[in-house]
Amino acid sequence: MKKYLLAPGPTPVPPEILLRMAYPMIHHRSPDFGPVMEEVSEGLKWLFQTRNDVLMMASSGTGAMEGSVSNFLSPGERVLTVNGGKFGERWGKICKAFDVNATEIMVEWGDTVDPGVIADHLRKDPSIKGVYVQASETSTGVAHDVKTIAGIVRNYPDTLLVVDAITALGVFDIKPDEWGIDILITGSQKALMLPPGLAFAGVSDKAWRMNERAKCSRFYFDFKKERDNLKKNTSAYTPAVSLIIGLQHVLRTLREEGLPNIFARHALLANATREGIKGFGLSLFPKSSPSDAVTAVSAPEGFDGQQIYKRLRERYGITAAGGQDHLKGKIFRISHMGYCDTFDVITAIAGVEMVLKEMGYPGELGSGLKRAEEAFLKSQV
Ligand SMILES: Cc1ncc(COP(=O)(O)O)c(C=O)c1O
Repeated sequence: MKKYLLAPGPTPVPPEILLRMAYPMIHHRSPDFGPVMEEVSEGLKWLFQTRNDVLMMASSGTGAMEGSVSNFLSPGERVLTVNGGKFGERWGKICKAFDVNATEIMVEWGDTVDPGVIADHLRKDPSIKGVYVQASETSTGVAHDVKTIAGIVRNYPDTLLVVDAITALGVFDIKPDEWGIDILITGSQKALMLPPGLAFAGVSDKAWRMNERAKCSRFYFDFKKERDNLKKNTSAYTPAVSLIIGLQHVLRTLREEGLPNIFARHALLANATREGIKGFGLSLFPKSSPSDAVTAVSAPEGFDGQQIYKRLRERYGITAAGGQDHLKGKIFRISHMGYCDTFDVITAIAGVEMVLKEMGYPGELGSGLKRAEEAFLKSQV
């Protein structure tokens, strides 16, 4: 069976990148590797739209999330975390593990956080040391308004804004230096079109100042140690050499495409997916602000979202994603980030139509496809 990977990470890896990563291994302390690190460091600054160093660690994205708590806070300090989904919830869990006192702003899953609520908390308690939020909450398919949040947090000299952009960076526009995001995080297996295994964090000067007095314990994810090594084009520990070589080539192709084109490509794929879904009579799960990385679809009344996503895989080889926690069965999710094009969207919509038709859904076959195709054609005029 031919396989189609349309899950929100890991995403497909372009064949030419896979080949680059299959070259003979090089040693990370040899002269072969320094130039790779140098090029990648520069490329990451471009991709992150920052003048600051972007750290790289051999872990999944959660490693950078953990490090952005442990490197900048001390036990007992207060922070705000936005819990509007599975990954926002993770901020709270990480803080707990490091005895950081997190106040969770609970947002109904599918909603965006109201930046005014963050502003109120900070006004009442300016001793809050950090605000932790997702740019794109993958579990619900919602994009939070991090630009407005940054405009609020930047007024507090001792409060960091930490943004998990694991499914946002390289998908839509985020300007950390210009907006005032202190730590911006991503991982390799999403829009960077690489296998899982690299975590990244861009860190501001304000955050480095906080790092000097932060007392939480840490060892592997020691950002200062990584920064000192990065300045010498190396890393504290054995880096994920093959992935970094893959990244070198990904960054070259992305630079060729250019950021505006990358963002426009994702916006078009996302729009066509949403149109296709609505055209077949289905509803988007986010109440507003759907993410351009992933489309979360509400399972129609009387249909099990888990069944939809399982049938897509088992009958048609399409790997999408189901819902998590209380959204299990209620939604399914289709990714359109990274190495994805028009016919991945067409495949997804056709698969959804066929599976739901088999399950007895009354929508008209082809109605979603028509809308998706029209969305693509309209973009060409
Ligand atoms: C928004 C977001 N944050 C965090 C994570 C966790 O990343 P990882 O699984 O790479 O640790 C994910 C993974 O899907 C994610 O989408």
